Amino acid sequence: MCGIIGGVGKLDYRDYLLTGLKKLDYRGYDSAGLAYRKDGKVILKKVAGRVDDLSRAVAPFSGGEVGIAHTRWATHGVPNQANAHPHFSMRRDFYIVHNGVIENYRSLKNLLKDHGYIFHTDTDTEVIADLLEDNYRQKKDVLASISETMGVLRGSFACAIICKDDSNLYFMKKASPLLIGLGKGANYLASDALPMVDYTDKFIDLEDGEYGVLTPAEAKIYIAGKAIAPVVTSRDTARYDYDLDGYPTFMLKEIEESPDVIHCLGDNYFDGEKYLFDQKLIRALRDADEVVFLACGTSYYASLLGVEFMKRLGKRSEAYIGSEWAYYPTLPSKKTVFVLVSQSGETADLILCQKFLLDKGLPTLAITNTKGSTIERKATYSLLLYAGLEVAVAATKSYMAQVVLLALLANAVGGRTSAVAGLDSLIRSLRDIVLRKEGIHAIAKRIFVSRDAFYVGRGHDFAAALECSLKLKEISYIHAEAYPGGELKHGPIALIEKDTPVIGFVSDPLTALALRNNLTELSSRGATVLIVSSEALREEGDSFSYPDVPSLLAVLPEVMFGQYLSYYAALEKKLPIDKPRNLAKSVTVE
Ligand code: F6R
Repeated sequence: MCGIIGGVGKLDYRDYLLTGLKKLDYRGYDSAGLAYRKDGKVILKKVAGRVDDLSRAVAPFSGGEVGIAHTRWATHGVPNQANAHPHFSMRRDFYIVHNGVIENYRSLKNLLKDHGYIFHTDTDTEVIADLLEDNYRQKKDVLASISETMGVLRGSFACAIICKDDSNLYFMKKASPLLIGLGKGANYLASDALPMVDYTDKFIDLEDGEYGVLTPAEAKIYIAGKAIAPVVTSRDTARYDYDLDGYPTFMLKEIEESPDVIHCLGDNYFDGEKYLFDQKLIRALRDADEVVFLACGTSYYASLLGVEFMKRLGKRSEAYIGSEWAYYPTLPSKKTVFVLVSQSGETADLILCQKFLLDKGLPTLAITNTKGSTIERKATYSLLLYAGLEVAVAATKSYMAQVVLLALLANAVGGRTSAVAGLDSLIRSLRDIVLRKEGIHAIAKRIFVSRDAFYVGRGHDFAAALECSLKLKEISYIHAEAYPGGELKHGPIALIEKDTPVIGFVSDPLTALALRNNLTELSSRGATVLIVSSEALREEGDSFSYPDVPSLLAVLPEVMFGQYLSYYAALEKKLPIDKPRNLAKSVTVE
């Protein structure tokens, strides 16, 4: 994954690079480094730690002509200091930071070894620096060397590059996100807009195959040797709110923003009388004989609700995990609409799916939280989640927004307005949970020492169970499984031991009784059963209840319960809640 950042011109480099890198560390945080050129010399610093460790290691300095920095999510080579970026070429002609994966780096390494190159790292990136140098030594032209280098690289790369011989900032891009920020007396680039919004609101989204050079005064962009006229767009920089606002963690802040996010979403897509969706999209969905959702992780679990909403309209609908579908696509009919659901809009597995669909000329709807992201830009139709920046690695408010947006969309397709009335009760229910979160904290104190836990539900309650078990794994490092209530007795019940926590969701009158029976079977075998129910179905002894909401929307209070439970379990275990181990927020590698 990794986050890259660069700048050229009049800048406080230490502040820009380190503050910017901190904002990018949702993309990976196992090592970090920076390089800047000052008075003709390139100074390099790297650490096998987080951006805060790098900040401590970089002594204050002023001046500078050009700088680059990187926060890493290791793909090739362990996260040690040598493998941290920036990497440099053998003779130190080039320094580069890279996000992506070079698939053919082994054969390129062998080729470079034949040219006398010696390698110091286990990374795929080092070959890029050496190839640049090898080409530059022959061509004496940086841009021509970049173009030549791009020609032999297979895989994905967004790179910021410094050459020791000048004070320009060079770049190249394929299949990993990179955008330029245009300033006054300085220009910028980064993996996303966040580190640049304090400096500019004018951006250029780079496309695959583009490369070029930034000077303090201009941006020159090329594709296959030809200069192109860049498209400059403005972004609403207020959207990139990066403050904790008094909260101890972003995850807690973001969980508690959900009611407002849902409110805002309602306002954006319904004007009090009618839905505000693009009518062409609504017609396409009405005409579709099937609606297929493609997504990964939490977004996939939100898509399971999309399937239910569509089925209730009488449509055929399926959801597939992006990384699977990309390799085993089902052959769609001409009247299938594909919905790509992605908070970041940059998930590599989903971009692969989108590429397949684009090649076939099939229509896609992107549901993302990130305007200008790859998936959003390339889709036929786009709907934004308006959830605001989500900084914590765990998706929380974006899941809520995805489910609500899918509900609103299905209602618009079905020509109804009932979800809007339902939204008020949903927002009230979630606000009520926020006020009673200490009750969930008390439950977390009972279960946080457990090695394993189970979430159980039926129907849409099972979809909520899936998302909650993911949250428990990723934030609290508790091994968690989700099962439909009736399925446990077909095998998994063997895992139930004395005090194994089992959380049961009860919100559907159709299955409430059957599920309670399933849970009784588990408590008879020693499990600690904790029932979370809607008020209408509450029974004595239930551990937590929430005010009723219409039908399928019950997943949202249930998932909010699960978000808090994993948050508090992680808090009790003193874990790094916003940045759990091994993860990154935007998964831009396959
Ligand atoms: C879990 C989580 C991930 C993401 C997944 C897809 O909390 O955040 O499972 O949902 O990596 O990411 P997006 O939605 O950006 O495509």
